[in-house]
Amino acid sequence: MVLAVTGGIACYKAVEVVRLLMRDGFSVQVAMTREAAQFVTPLTFQTLSGQPVATDTFSLTEESQIGHINLADQADVFVIAPATANIIGKIASGIADDLLTTVVMATQAPVLFAPSMNVHMFENPIVQENIRKLRRVGYHFMEPVEGYLACGYEGKGRLPEPEAIVEEIRGLLKKKDLAGERLLITAGPNQEPIDPVRFITNRSSGKMGYALARAAARRGAAVTLVAGPTSLPPPAKTRVVAVRTAEEMRAAVLERFADATAVVMAAAVSDYSPVQVAPKKLKKTADALRLELKRNPDILEELGRKKDGRLLVGFAAETDNVIANAEKKLREKNLDMIVANDVAAEGSGFEGDTNIATILDHGGNVVTLPLMTKDELADRIFDHLHALKTNRP
Ligand code: C5P
Repeated sequence: MVLAVTGGIACYKAVEVVRLLMRDGFSVQVAMTREAAQFVTPLTFQTLSGQPVATDTFSLTEESQIGHINLADQADVFVIAPATANIIGKIASGIADDLLTTVVMATQAPVLFAPSMNVHMFENPIVQENIRKLRRVGYHFMEPVEGYLACGYEGKGRLPEPEAIVEEIRGLLKKKDLAGERLLITAGPNQEPIDPVRFITNRSSGKMGYALARAAARRGAAVTLVAGPTSLPPPAKTRVVAVRTAEEMRAAVLERFADATAVVMAAAVSDYSPVQVAPKKLKKTADALRLELKRNPDILEELGRKKDGRLLVGFAAETDNVIANAEKKLREKNLDMIVANDVAAEGSGFEGDTNIATILDHGGNVVTLPLMTKDELADRIFDHLHALKTNRP
C-alpha cells in the first residue's frame, strides 16, 4: 500500500500509522510532499517502513527505482494522511504537478483521505465542495475528529487516531461479501448484582465478540453489538448497545432480533443470578453467607424457537467433551452453526488474543481450526456463515 503524507502538523501521527501497519504485516511505501518533509524527515518513515521514501517526480534516481506509474499500479490501497486543504483542492481540480498528485491521478486502487486542518479551513465551503466532488467520483474520506487543534482552536479538524486510520484501511481492503446483512452480535460477560457494590461475573473479556463485530463491519455488514461490560474500545462502524445483566442482554437482543438477518451469540451469558438483590451493601456479620441463585433465560434457545430464516450462530466454551457438547447444543438450540472451543487449552479461551476452535454446522460439517488470532477466527466464522447462506436451497 502507499501512504502519502502531506504537510500538516499531524504528520507525526502518520509515523504511528506506518508503525501499526508494519506490525500488521503490510508492505508500506511512503510518499511525501516537500512540505511534509519540513515536519518529519523522510528518514523517519524510511526507517519504519524499510523502504526509501518517494518524494518527488523529477528526482531521476527515484524515478528509475520507483516510477510514479509503477507506484500507482503497485498500490492495493492509497492513503493520504494527513490530507491538507491544499492536496484535497489539487486533486479535486485534476492538478498533477508533483509525485503525489501524479500517482493519485494514475492509481486504480481505492484512495482514502484523512483530512486534518484548522476547523475554519475544514468548514470553508470550497473545501467542503471539493470533498463532496471527490466523494461523488468514488474517493473515500474519514471525518476529522473534534478537539484541541495545534493552531489553538477547538473544533473539528484533528486527524483521526492512527488505530482508526488503520482500521479504515483494513475495511477498504476487504471483500464486501456481507453487504446487505444485518448482524446482531453479542459479546462479553454479564454482571449479576448481589448488592449495590458486588456482582457475579465470569472471565469473558469480550475480545471474540468485538473481533466478530470488526470483521463483519469490514465485510460490509450493518452491525449491532450488544455488549456486556468490557474494557475494549468500540469497534468502527458498529452500533454498540451496552448492557449489564443477562436479563438486559435478552431484552436488547429480542428488541433488535426482527430486524436482523443473522445473530452471533459470542457473549458468555450468566446462567444464574441472585434471587434477591440487596438494596444496601451487605455487612460482614455472619461467618457464612448463603446466596440463592435462579436460572437465567437462555437467550439463544429462545431465538432458536423463532428464528424464521435467520441464521443463528452460538459458541460453546467447554472444558471437556468439547465436540459432543457443542453438537448437542447445536441441535437443542436449533442453531445453524456453533463454534466450540476448549477454554482450558493453552492459547484458547477467555482473556487472550488467540483461540483454538472447531466450527460445526447444521449440515453435519465439522471444521477443526488451528491456533489463530480472534480476528482471524472471526473471518473464518463469517466465511463459513457466508458459505451456508450461499449454499442454501
Ligand atoms: O449452554 P451454553 O451456555 O454453553 O451455550 C452457549 C451459547 O448459548 C453461547 O452462544 C451463549 O451466548 C448462549 N447463551 C445464551 N443464554 C444463556 C446462556 C448461553 O444465549 N443464558
